[in-house]
Amino acid sequence: MSDTHVSVLRQEAIAALEVVPGKKYIDATTGAGGHSLAIVKKGGVLLGIDQDKEALRIATRRLEQEQLKPENWTFTQGNFRNIETLANAHGFNLVSGILFDLGVSSMQLDTPERGFSYRFTDAPLDLRMDTSTGDTAAQLVNRVTAEELYDIFSSYGEEQLARKLADAVYRARSVKRIVTVGDLVEVVASVVPGESMRYGVLSRIFQGLRIAVNDELSSLKLGLEGAKRLLVPGGVLAVISFHSLEDRIVKQFMRQAGSQVITKHPIRPGEQEQEVNRRSRSAKLRVAKKL
Ligand SMILES: C[S@@+](CC[C@H](N)C(=O)[O-])C[C@H]1O[C@@H](n2cnc3c(N)ncnc32)[C@H](O)[C@@H]1O
Repeated sequence: MSDTHVSVLRQEAIAALEVVPGKKYIDATTGAGGHSLAIVKKGGVLLGIDQDKEALRIATRRLEQEQLKPENWTFTQGNFRNIETLANAHGFNLVSGILFDLGVSSMQLDTPERGFSYRFTDAPLDLRMDTSTGDTAAQLVNRVTAEELYDIFSSYGEEQLARKLADAVYRARSVKRIVTVGDLVEVVASVVPGESMRYGVLSRIFQGLRIAVNDELSSLKLGLEGAKRLLVPGGVLAVISFHSLEDRIVKQFMRQAGSQVITKHPIRPGEQEQEVNRRSRSAKLRVAKKL
């Protein structure tokens, strides 16, 4: 696994957390540890969570290379839908700030055997962030109804050709099980022959499958609720999202009673960041304080 993930909106997210030395913070999506490292460097005492144990291995190595006090940071594997249990287990019962940087990391996308990218056609169609649990994308696409496939491709993937693609997958799997990334790419190619258009379709349906496989939207809702209970009054919740459905959940959550919205409009990456890091283009940072 490579460790090339470039943190999105790092400065903005860390500034939003208003890190006070000695206070406790949670990075709910540690990934390669870019945001985590910045919090600890500012003097925060950090609990980093990720459901991907490979990501935590990379982040641990990264923080170990820095001259940081080991008692100021801890990483733990788990799904942030269980953020309260994970935090309580590590003595983080009340914290001053919590960051979520949602979605997929570059390491996940660039590791062929994880099946996150349509580029690696020999890879198993997996797409699980926690490889120890749950159905793979292959199991999902071979099991669900054509209507469910359509829902995944259209709402999570925001793909206009969702109906045609769902029907094509449904037909193809009755002839031969879909097992590899290449099997799915072949089905998409039968519906979208033009290469340049096909890549866009592929990235959208892989996004849709990823969201479904990892049950990302319900994890987000549960994670936000848990986070709010863990924050001290005045504590900061900062969320970077990459998908309109995620952003809607975050926006609605922050508008609830008991929260003060700090970002009336989401913070977006500047032109320079967007140019250097294409993945940042859809990012939106929203911030709220607990009253
Ligand atoms: C965009 S990356 C985070 C990058 C990180 N902020 C950095 O600077 O390196 C998102 C990470 O969140 C993790 N993740 C996504 N959903 C999660 C969940 N429900 N629970 C725990 N980790 C999750 C992924 O495994 C991935 O490593």
